[in-house]
Amino acid sequence: MINAVSIGIHDIAFATTHYVLDLDDLARHRGVDPAKYHLGLGQDAMSIPAADEDIVTMAAAAAAPILQLHGTDNLRTVLLATETAVDQSKAAALYLHPLLNLPSTTRIVELKQACYAATAALQFAIGLITRNPADQVLIIAADIARYDLDSPGEPTQGAAAVAMLVTADPAILQLDSPSGVYSDDIMDFWRPNHRSTAVVDGELSVRTYLTATSQAWADYRNNGGRQLDEFSAFCYHLPYTAMARKAHKHLLETLGIEWPNDRIAAVVDAGTRYNRTIGNSYTASLYLSLLSLLDHSSELSGRAVAFFSYGSGCVSECFSGTIRPGYRQHLRTADNQHQIAARTPISYPRYRAVHTEHANPCIADCYFDQDTAGPYRLTEIVNDKRRYQKI
Ligand code: CAA
Repeated sequence: MINAVSIGIHDIAFATTHYVLDLDDLARHRGVDPAKYHLGLGQDAMSIPAADEDIVTMAAAAAAPILQLHGTDNLRTVLLATETAVDQSKAAALYLHPLLNLPSTTRIVELKQACYAATAALQFAIGLITRNPADQVLIIAADIARYDLDSPGEPTQGAAAVAMLVTADPAILQLDSPSGVYSDDIMDFWRPNHRSTAVVDGELSVRTYLTATSQAWADYRNNGGRQLDEFSAFCYHLPYTAMARKAHKHLLETLGIEWPNDRIAAVVDAGTRYNRTIGNSYTASLYLSLLSLLDHSSELSGRAVAFFSYGSGCVSECFSGTIRPGYRQHLRTADNQHQIAARTPISYPRYRAVHTEHANPCIADCYFDQDTAGPYRLTEIVNDKRRYQKI
């Protein structure tokens, strides 16, 4: 079953940070077998923000090519999903106004529910476009995953923003109408207002993720969703990429289905390539997985893809869509790969210093020397007012 009006992702782009830390370095300094990170967690590296980067600079960099290509004439709504908010009141996307020349006839809001919020944004966009199919909605999922130094979560840090233009008659992905949801009050991962790093019960978080995934699938099927064997690929929220195979295996077990490992790999691995080198990007991670799938799969036109969104705390949603014919000509594969390759390796001592700087928020006036080579930077926080610059 599809929406009466065909609605979905018309364009998608991403941005990450200036720095990258190789997980071999982290393993050596922590005295851990690197295989634990590469094989156990499925992570090779993690993006690290420069001192003058945050979710706003990444969001601007992700959205700029989309707006350059499509303009803003029909842009009515910008939804920025994040759990790395820069203010308790003002929506982070408002800082994009001068950076991206957003029209004043745009409603702008920020959404939060851990790693799930971008999926809520997608559902809200469908509602808005159903009401007026001429409207376009820009969704930006932007997060910096930051855990305490030397904690179990440390090797799963990362950062990225994914921007998506949601429209009627989309060029890349048409969304199906059924979706399945699951929510519960669970303390598996959270970040109180006074903390810049997450508090996490790792074992509970993994268990809850798996339960939520199979429950969301059951609700998806109860609401008229497709059968499992209709899908060519499955994109999962990826706190670390080993989670994709683990979650898929769990889903199959709950359905009483047995697949060999290579069959599981064939439907999930293409969607993990970017995440493996970028790390967790919280609410952007599922959509980075979609980007990875699009850039690393052979022809997907007309193929159905299943999506599993999970945000600790917890809300989970399973939804699906069909890749549109001709989608390849709308991808930015070379740019995406260049952006990842262009990151500057950061030394382990410098990584720890930058982590500590970011973990201690600016409480007096702060001025930031230029550190990033990216297109946007945070220049100062004076009288608690943040100022950004297009470089
Ligand atoms: N070679 C190969 N594999 C190895 C290994 C080695 N030398 N040593 C360990 N491993 C394997 C382990 O067997 C384990 O595999 P399984 O998951 O298949 O059992 C894996 O590596 C991880 O090892 P541990 O469980 O011992 O790792 P840990 O206790 O140090 O931490 C973690 C793992 C709990 C996920 C931790 O990284 C963490 O707290 N991460 C943050 C929370 C998180 O990501 N939770 C995921 C669900 S919540 C969510 O999805 C929201 C979100 O984005 C945070």
